[in-house]
Amino acid sequence: MQGRLVTVFGGSGFIGRYLVKRLAEAGARVRVAVRRPEAANFLKPLGTVGQVVPWQANLRVDSSVAAAVAGADDVINLVGILYEAGAQRFGVVQARGPEVIAEAAKAAGVERLVHVSAIGADAQSESLYARSKAAGEAGIRKHFPAATILRPSVVFGAEDSFLNRFAFLARISPVLPLIAGGQTKFQPVYVGDVAAAIMAALQDPAAAGRTYELGGPGTYSFEELLRYILRETGRSALLVPLPEAVALFEAWFLEKLPKPLLTRDQVILLRRDNVPAPGMPGLAELGIRPTPLEAVAPAYLARHRRGGARAGISAA
Ligand SMILES: NC(=O)c1ccc[n+]([C@@H]2O[C@H](COP(=O)([O-])OP(=O)(O)OC[C@H]3O[C@@H](n4cnc5c(N)ncnc54)[C@H](OP(=O)(O)O)[C@@H]3O)[C@@H](O)[C@H]2O)c1
Repeated sequence: MQGRLVTVFGGSGFIGRYLVKRLAEAGARVRVAVRRPEAANFLKPLGTVGQVVPWQANLRVDSSVAAAVAGADDVINLVGILYEAGAQRFGVVQARGPEVIAEAAKAAGVERLVHVSAIGADAQSESLYARSKAAGEAGIRKHFPAATILRPSVVFGAEDSFLNRFAFLARISPVLPLIAGGQTKFQPVYVGDVAAAIMAALQDPAAAGRTYELGGPGTYSFEELLRYILRETGRSALLVPLPEAVALFEAWFLEKLPKPLLTRDQVILLRRDNVPAPGMPGLAELGIRPTPLEAVAPAYLARHRRGGARAGISAA
């Protein structure tokens, strides 16, 4: 990767910070393409002077995407949203955005394109999130068939928005809802392993044109994950099964918050397990040994214990 120019769309996000660190360590020059480059300044010290450059780009503005990939050897797309807000709609950011990147990357002569999608991407899904992820993948394949697509299960790590969110909820509420009976299955994958998978996809010619599903070494139901969080944070919230109709009704209110705690689309997503499909290539095929949840999560969940360090803890 020495000296290569790599554009990372969404490089200031959760997965982005781990990837940018690895790219900088490997000697790449990194262009961190995001809407708010000032919010990416914290990444600059990961490289030498001028090695990591925050760059203004918005997937909703085609010309800014073309400018961000101009001269790049490799491109990675990490842009995604969990809920719609203002102009940030699933259709334009997750369905059309990847196609715009793929088209611009092809035109600019980019060598390698890696797109991070999500397990559950499905054109037939009842969830808009899942349908937009499938449309994004189709746009990538249409213009850049040799791209590598990575679909993680839920990603964990110190800054994650899954375990931290429920740990936060357990602090403010005596009751946690078991949506879909708490039986939806997850295979949480460590953020460092996702970053390693992207690095491997960039460098392994066999990864070109393939789609990988990334899961960690353990499978847990939603209820098991909530019980794990409660154990690690020393909290004792009651887990209450919530019929889907009630969950949808609650989500209708909660999705109106500026940073929604739950949306109706997320309730619909919980109808299906979030685990790699049997037979799909995954971390092993990229040469990565998955990190167990139990090896990493206790250290950061400890912040949510009574009397734990409170700085910076929010609904994530
Ligand atoms: N985290 C998970 O558990 C998980 C699980 C499965 C799949 N994924 C997928 O993995 C990818 C990365 O996830 P993440 O958790 O790292 O996301 P994240 O923390 O929410 O980061 C999103 C990044 O995208 C940028 N961004 C948002 N809208 C943009 C736009 N219109 N144009 C340009 N940049 C934009 C953000 O910066 P600005 O706001 O400054 O633009 C930020 O850098 C996403 O596609 C996500 O769907 C994540």
